[in-house]
Amino acid sequence: MKKFFIVLLLSISFVKTYADEGMWLPMLLGQQAYNDMVKKGLKLKPEQLYNLNKASIKDAIVIFGGGCTGEIVSDQGLIFTNHHCGYNAIVDASSVENNYLQNGFWAKDKSKEISSSLSIKFLNRIDDVTEKIMSALGDLQGADRAKKYNQVMGDIVKEVVGNDEFKDAVVASMFKGNQYFLFVYDVYKDIRLVGNPPESIGKFGGDTDNWEWPRHTGDFSVFRVYTTKEGKPSKYSVDNIPMKPKYFLPVSIKGFKDGDYSMIYGYPGGTNRYETSYGIKLATDINNPTLVKLRDMRLKYMFAEMKKNPATKLQLASNYASVANYWKFFDGETKQLLKYDVYGAKQNAETNFLSWAKGKPAYENIFNDYATNYSAWTPYAKHRQYINEGIVSTPLIAYAASWLALETLLKKTDIKAEEITKAIEAATKARKTFLTNDNKKSDQNILAAAISMFYSDIDKDQQPKGFYEELFKNYSDIEQNTYKLFTADVFANTMAFDDNKWKAFTDKPSIEALTKDPAFAIAKAFISNYTNNILPKYTAFVNKNNDLGRMYMKGLFEMNPNKMNSTYPDANFTMRVSYGNVKSYLPKDAVKYDFYCTLSGVASKYVKDDYEFDLPAKFLDLYKAKDFGPYVDKKIGDIVVTFITTNDITGGNSGSPVMDANGNLIGLAFDGNYEALSHKMAFDKDLNRTICVDVRYVLWCIDKLGGAKHIVDELKLVQ
Ligand code: ARG
Repeated sequence: MKKFFIVLLLSISFVKTYADEGMWLPMLLGQQAYNDMVKKGLKLKPEQLYNLNKASIKDAIVIFGGGCTGEIVSDQGLIFTNHHCGYNAIVDASSVENNYLQNGFWAKDKSKEISSSLSIKFLNRIDDVTEKIMSALGDLQGADRAKKYNQVMGDIVKEVVGNDEFKDAVVASMFKGNQYFLFVYDVYKDIRLVGNPPESIGKFGGDTDNWEWPRHTGDFSVFRVYTTKEGKPSKYSVDNIPMKPKYFLPVSIKGFKDGDYSMIYGYPGGTNRYETSYGIKLATDINNPTLVKLRDMRLKYMFAEMKKNPATKLQLASNYASVANYWKFFDGETKQLLKYDVYGAKQNAETNFLSWAKGKPAYENIFNDYATNYSAWTPYAKHRQYINEGIVSTPLIAYAASWLALETLLKKTDIKAEEITKAIEAATKARKTFLTNDNKKSDQNILAAAISMFYSDIDKDQQPKGFYEELFKNYSDIEQNTYKLFTADVFANTMAFDDNKWKAFTDKPSIEALTKDPAFAIAKAFISNYTNNILPKYTAFVNKNNDLGRMYMKGLFEMNPNKMNSTYPDANFTMRVSYGNVKSYLPKDAVKYDFYCTLSGVASKYVKDDYEFDLPAKFLDLYKAKDFGPYVDKKIGDIVVTFITTNDITGGNSGSPVMDANGNLIGLAFDGNYEALSHKMAFDKDLNRTICVDVRYVLWCIDKLGGAKHIVDELKLVQ
């Protein structure tokens, strides 16, 4: 029960002792953290870690796509990231005839690399904009503060980015709005797929093994960034050349042992280590279980179709993978939060804070205010999850919801004809995308289930007025399932699927035609009910929570003075460095988990033709022949496929480089362990592990399994 209380204090007062916790801003590392890194084994100078004027490790680290990390590993712009980060691009490059997802792909030479819709971002510079923002915000609170913040932030970003499509900038709030930094990025848009292992390697173990150690997944893929001949960022062009990077990571195939130094750079997406007991309770009681229940349902109907044929599998694979990933995460998070009584630990921390805050008017009522805020919002929390994870996660309704903007436009009296034409053109384009991506059968089942579950789970007085009465009036055949009948009619009659109806509507767009559409009617009923009655309560809740969080954090710093610069801010998808060690652990009584898994371990999990545990014939041949090449771990006499470290990372770090004491690449981080799935809200110093694919397995897959030795030859190997 005391665990988090201790962690909370330590992260503020005694960071040195439990240094594996911490996602540090590399430019603000501080002497204390650096000294600790050295103590743990680091052999590099501070300027090799981060330097504005000279090339340093930070220049090899990129934001990969929308939410992952990648690293530059050759002087020709080669990028390593995870298989699950490249997944969408691999699916896009695949067809049933050329199924690169299933069979793997290696470009024979640069001309065979496949362009993608991905972009990557390099960190260009960081400015402290705290004063600028704080002075603009002054004492504003709640909605006024949020509005002003968005305006000031927007101005700052606009000033830096202007109209440059190859620049991006983000203002990131640190310590819950007690500090603000501006991050400026260079955006490169010509990113090509160089190669990937077959899915049976890249996603070996599937969702059964996801978020678990021991683990045998070869979770990597390889891309390349191209620039103009002048080395400038660019969109795809045949004339582009491979990037000549400022810095790239050497790759070590020397191996390592339990206890060796490990360092991870990357872009952790979000943590909330100072979440209150109220937030924990809302997560474990309502938010997480509701999300899990709705995702269970969606996954069930998607999977039923995916296993029927390869085309549907390709169509749904990417979406399925991301829904499944956080379905398991939130289920595990709930279990671990409860198991470790994080709620109780947070309550202890709050009691401790309150005894300090006594007699300080700014702080002494803070938890009463939290209590009031949470009890006002809690009755509506489930409704919000049902909209996001149920109704609007139904593909048809998500698409039909985009017509709400059309409706608003058509309602305007002073609208120009060409504006409507433009909006209709956009809707037609979106419809085309929708129709390519939609799998009707699963979509229809999901809609029927979502509407049915909403009815039984959400309070009657929160439901859209008249919607269910009308539905029950029209679909009450005792022999049949009401919701199935209803959705069958929706799918048969909506213009979303009917070219003639769509043409009639777009030839003469009218509110009447929209209103008559049954898919639009569902979108409108649920979304306007939500927007009018629930969303304002949610916004008020979030704004108040932000005010309280800022105060709580400020109070914690007052309680422990001068510590703002010696602790780390919560993850917020800005560049961080985390340091620790390769390390085995004790997951439960009498059980020890070793720090590595092997090729033999992969082979021992093999199940022929299984959805998750199949293996390519060539893998089995190479394994039988013990054809390990220079990638073998001599001490172990096998290929080490994966390993674990004590580093503090989270989602967004996927694809991050794991480096040794000299900054050489030894692996790619791709997951966290089940025992520490409460890590977003409470770091567990004993159980937290980062799961990494060993770079020697990556190279074995490229060279031996993939026959693409030329890629390995591009790297700077340390042996
Ligand atoms: N859990 C991993 C992460 O969030 C993603 C693993 C993807 N694999 C899978 N079987 N869904 O980084």
